[in-house]
Amino acid sequence: MKDQAAKLRRLVENKNVSPELPASKAPETTIKQPAELKGPRTIAITSGKGGVGKTNLAVNLAIALGNMGKRVIIIDADMGMANVDILLGTSSRINLMNLLDPEVNLEDVLLRGPYGVSYISGGSGMEHAEELTEVEKDILFTKLEACAEWADIILIDTGAGIGKNVLDFIVSADEVLLVTTPEPTALTDAYAVMKGYSKTTDTPNLKLIVNRVIDEPEIREVVSTLSRTAEKFLKLSVECMGYIYDDQTMVKSVRSQVPIMSGYPDALAARCISSIAKGLVNGRQEKVSLGWRGFLRRLFKK
Ligand SMILES: Nc1ncnc2c1ncn2[C@@H]1O[C@H](COP(=O)(O)OP(=O)(O)OP(=O)(O)O)[C@@H](O)[C@H]1O
Ligand SMILES: [Mg+2]
Repeated sequence: MKDQAAKLRRLVENKNVSPELPASKAPETTIKQPAELKGPRTIAITSGKGGVGKTNLAVNLAIALGNMGKRVIIIDADMGMANVDILLGTSSRINLMNLLDPEVNLEDVLLRGPYGVSYISGGSGMEHAEELTEVEKDILFTKLEACAEWADIILIDTGAGIGKNVLDFIVSADEVLLVTTPEPTALTDAYAVMKGYSKTTDTPNLKLIVNRVIDEPEIREVVSTLSRTAEKFLKLSVECMGYIYDDQTMVKSVRSQVPIMSGYPDALAARCISSIAKGLVNGRQEKVSLGWRGFLRRLFKK
């Protein structure tokens, strides 16, 4: 791990990130929120490298939060991949873009999947939010706003990387969970997300989830490497929201298309995800809380 940390620092340095880089944000700022912007809490689940466990976390976190009495909707914003469908063993043809049809309402695109998981497939509508006409944006905005009646928490499962559409999602959300594994490539790509995020938002709220860890020293090393590098080079404060052990039961659950939280709730990885859910619900009150309507406004630039 020491070697790994050194590699990350070298990689970071090779990216010409200056320690003097001006912080383009004010971490202590609290947004004054107009009452109308309140609504469900929005949490984007993202990563630098693909395949690190975002969708599994989103689906199982939704189940864990549901077990705690929270109403959760997942927005599958990883365009064209229908990841949530696959993990739930379902298939849906309808997506968010169908809302542009006057005959289609939120209830038609808000899918009630198995295991109590409700989700909306993003389709290309969210990916190209800026290319939509003002009329189209208004239609989507108005219809999607009603999600507020159905959810306490909205989880946005984004694609990997720092493409503009992913950044749009993560800076629009109240909170960001950045998933990484301890692999050097995942750490370097996670750093790239933190860098893109810190430059784009002035109200940063990003926490790490370390997935597929082997033991506690590994967790500490990953968290300390990433948080120290973010603090030093980006002036970004990054805490760890939780970790998930590498667990073959997770692989088994993906193959059988039964989420680990439902099929194997006592498995190590499932217990880790329960603990993350508890942390999200019982953790300290977040400073920045624009909620779902605030998310839609930012995303559609309204
Ligand atoms: N804790 C874990 N233990 C063991 N295997 C895991 C764990 N978490 C995820 N995996 C494996 O990693 C694979 C990828 O997970 P997942 O599809 O959730 O990643 P993703 O980040 O959403 O990928 P993508 O970037 O393609 O959307 C899973 O199919 C599973 O086999
Ligand atoms: Mg995914």
